[in-house]
Amino acid sequence: DWTMAAYRAEMIEKIRLQVGKGRVLCGLSGGVDSSVAAVLIHEAIGDQLTCVFVDHGLMRAGEAEQVVGLFREHYNIPLVHVDASERFLGELAGVTDPEVKRKTIGRLFIEVFEEEARKIAGKGEGPAEFLAQGTLYPDVIESVSFSGGPSVTIKSHHNVGGLPERMNMKLVEPLRELFKDEVRALGRELGLTEAFVARHPFPGPGLAIRIPGEITREKLDTLRAADAIYLDEIRKAGLYDKIWQAFAVLLPVRTVGVMGDGRTYDSVCGLRAVTSVDGMTADFFPFDMNFLGRAATRIINEVKGINRVVYDVTSKPPGTIEWE
Ligand code: XMP
Repeated sequence: DWTMAAYRAEMIEKIRLQVGKGRVLCGLSGGVDSSVAAVLIHEAIGDQLTCVFVDHGLMRAGEAEQVVGLFREHYNIPLVHVDASERFLGELAGVTDPEVKRKTIGRLFIEVFEEEARKIAGKGEGPAEFLAQGTLYPDVIESVSFSGGPSVTIKSHHNVGGLPERMNMKLVEPLRELFKDEVRALGRELGLTEAFVARHPFPGPGLAIRIPGEITREKLDTLRAADAIYLDEIRKAGLYDKIWQAFAVLLPVRTVGVMGDGRTYDSVCGLRAVTSVDGMTADFFPFDMNFLGRAATRIINEVKGINRVVYDVTSKPPGTIEWE
């Protein structure tokens, strides 16, 4: 009889066997997967684990603080928080191509992570031998190419691929056999709060792929404000847990509007919400029109720089969940 409690105990044994007295570094992304992996590994090997949170400045409102709070204060897990937003935004200046955004972010992530790993090694008992990742089963199958033909990649998912070889580290991937809903169940089993484990997935490149065109601090602030209002309305309507992912997108288009007795010429905000089992296929979420009207009115009234809101009714396929 298979239970999450048994799986947890089994994985803890496996991690102990694999790691021995070795040291493990875990890159936290702020998402559920890497957090669950870190908490599980910490339970197995305690302070042989150090977490590194590379903050690229592309997170949603309040998110970086939540991660740091959870790990340092609640779990007391050693965490290095690197604020690398200047560096990321600097290198992303002028970049508009979605794949170049992903590659730039992926490369910088590896660079920053490596630098931190070296610093930690310098302070402690030498370099860590293990790198922990929150890789899930769908990530494993998505990265397998079809033999005999070229692998077809729709979007190069940002992860730390290549990093373990470069740093001569072995991978610890305790979630490799699990689907998202199972990771959530494991998170609950480990005592993470419902609000935390039920969080929607968030892509590694963060808000960078929700701002088609060039990314600027100003656009990021605008998008964060709109996204926070949208999610607030979704929570208030009791819909958060019925949705796989919901987010706002800031379009690189300005349209004309009227406000009071003036003319406005501001950006368009796209709203996205989908249902899905694993992110591979998805249906747009059928909000009622009153909900959409409410969210749109609040966003336009409260967020400077947005004067029009549209709702995306594309399913996957043919669309993808993200806009880039
Ligand atoms: P798409 O847009 O491909 O998204 O339908 C499917 C799922 O993957 C997430 N996603 C990413 N996650 N790095 C990630 O870590 C990425 O580059 C990336 N692109 C998309 C997306 O949020 C959705 O959950």
